This record gives sequence, C-alpha cells and structure tokens, in this order.
Amino acid sequence: MSVYPIILSQTGFAHRDELTYPFEERGLQFGDGVYEVIRIYGGKYYLLTEHVERLFRSAEAIKLSLPFSNQDITKRLLDLLEQNEMVSDGIVYLQATRGSAPRNHAFPTDTQANVYAYIRDMPRKTNNLINGVSAITQRDTRWENCYIKSLNLLPNVLAKQAAQENGSYEAILERDGIVTECSSSNIYLVKNDNIYTHPATKTILHGCVRMRVEQFAGNDNIPFVEEAFAVEDIFAADELFLSSSTSEVMPIVEVDGKMIADGKPGKVTRQLQEAYEKDANINKIVT
Ligand code: PDD
Repeated sequence: MSVYPIILSQTGFAHRDELTYPFEERGLQFGDGVYEVIRIYGGKYYLLTEHVERLFRSAEAIKLSLPFSNQDITKRLLDLLEQNEMVSDGIVYLQATRGSAPRNHAFPTDTQANVYAYIRDMPRKTNNLINGVSAITQRDTRWENCYIKSLNLLPNVLAKQAAQENGSYEAILERDGIVTECSSSNIYLVKNDNIYTHPATKTILHGCVRMRVEQFAGNDNIPFVEEAFAVEDIFAADELFLSSSTSEVMPIVEVDGKMIADGKPGKVTRQLQEAYEKDANINKIVT
C-alpha cells in the first residue's frame, strides 16, 4: 500500500500535509457539497467521463458553480495519477463544496468552491466477488434527491454501520417495502433470466456501473427491466447482485440471514462480472 503525497485542490497540486481548511467550511458544517469516487485499475481510470459528467449534474442540482470546466478537471485528474506515479488498483475521491465562509445557512456571496481530490490504493475484493456477500434490509430514510451525489450521507452511514454490526457487507434500503438501492451501491434482482432494478428516478443514485450493467445486459440479450421490486421479492429471486465503483458487480447470496436461491452466485451475475472485467480491461478472477 502506497501513500500518494500529491493532492489536487482548486488552486493546483499540493502536498497532502499542506492542504488545510478553516473550520467554517460549508462541506464540514452543512454537508453542502458533492463528490465522486472513481475506480482506478492498474493506474488508469475506469468510467472517468461518466463520473465527471455526473459531478457536473450533481453540482448543477445544488446550484454549485464549479471552478473548472469538464475538460480541465478531466486533465487534472489524469495529471494527479501521473504526479503520484500511480500504477496500481485504487480510487480517486473528489469533493467540491460551496467553500469557506462564516456560518449562515443561505449561500455565501463571493465565495469560491473548495475542491480536492486524492488517490489511494484499493485492491479488488476478490474473495467477495468469487463467493458473494451477505446483506441486511434497512429503511431508506434519505431525502427525495438521492440522484445527487451529495456529501449528506448520514442515513447511508447509519445503514452501513448496521450492516457491519450484523457481519454483513451491505444494507439494502427499502421505502414502504420497495427496494431502492443499497447504502453505497445499486441493487438488481434476477428472476426468470430478467434483470430487475429500480428505475433511475430521483430516488436513487444513477450509478456509473449501473449504466454499464444495462449495456452488458443489452449486449447479451438479457432483458434489463427498470421496475422496482419489493423486499419480499428478494426471497423468491433466482439471483441478487449489487454494483458500484468499489464493489464492481457483486453477488449477494444471503439477506437478513436467509439464503438467496441456492446461496451461490448465479449465472447471470457471473456473465455480468465477466463483461465488467472485459470492459474494464482487468484480470478474470471468477472462472
Ligand atoms: N458509492 N448508490 C449509492 C448510494 C452510492 O453511494 C453509489 C456509489 C452507487 C454506485 O454508483 P457508481 O456505480 O457510480 O459507483 C449507488 C461510492 C462508491 C461511494 O460513495 O463510496
């Protein structure tokens, strides 16, 4: 594991020890900002364009003006890898807030956004990808605009913590019995060779990997049905899986202590895992 010393900020590159923020900072005090997590494989970004586009959509949705263009930030993120001589598997975390200003709920005037991005190693979760993971169900107590990748993650944090305390990998979120997504990933159910997932409304984050899963399904002629399913449908599913930049396409084999189908990753999930590895140009770990 390496520590990558160079961080990107709105004023350029800095050493990680040099970057400090005042305590009156909108991200710290209000969660007033947006973020992205982008996968890096072998020192190269996966789905960089898609993530940068979503960053701009999220910023626009909260009326945050970013101090760079799409092309600028793309180039700077690429430079960040080069400056740190990054060649392994990892992630970049990028955050943009409404800046530093005396605390007041309404937007400050004359304040520039604070932006930073840093990279870290993150090996693929080989064991989980091969064997599948367990999950628990939790109430989705988030706000109405979950399509915005905002810094306000308290409900997600509490749901993930509940999962962890239960020895589970993820928390599946439900609103009035309808499954939306997970605390930090999208979720899909396979029944009779169809993939079901919550439509890309304001209620869920439109995952970059989700977009790809839809394409992979299309390429393999597997119907991708954007139709929400209920918690009880989970227990009659043929397969269940989740997706995210850090989890890839991950089989879920147990929910609330009950096995899904035979308790093993299913064939559609395996097919999508293979398509993911091809698309991301990474090693095949599932045979
Ligand atoms: N989470 N849904 C939620 C609530 C998420 O936080 C994420 C990503 C996803 C999947 O999005 P994508 O496929 O673009 O990674 C869905 C990131 C990894 C995180 O917060 O760490």
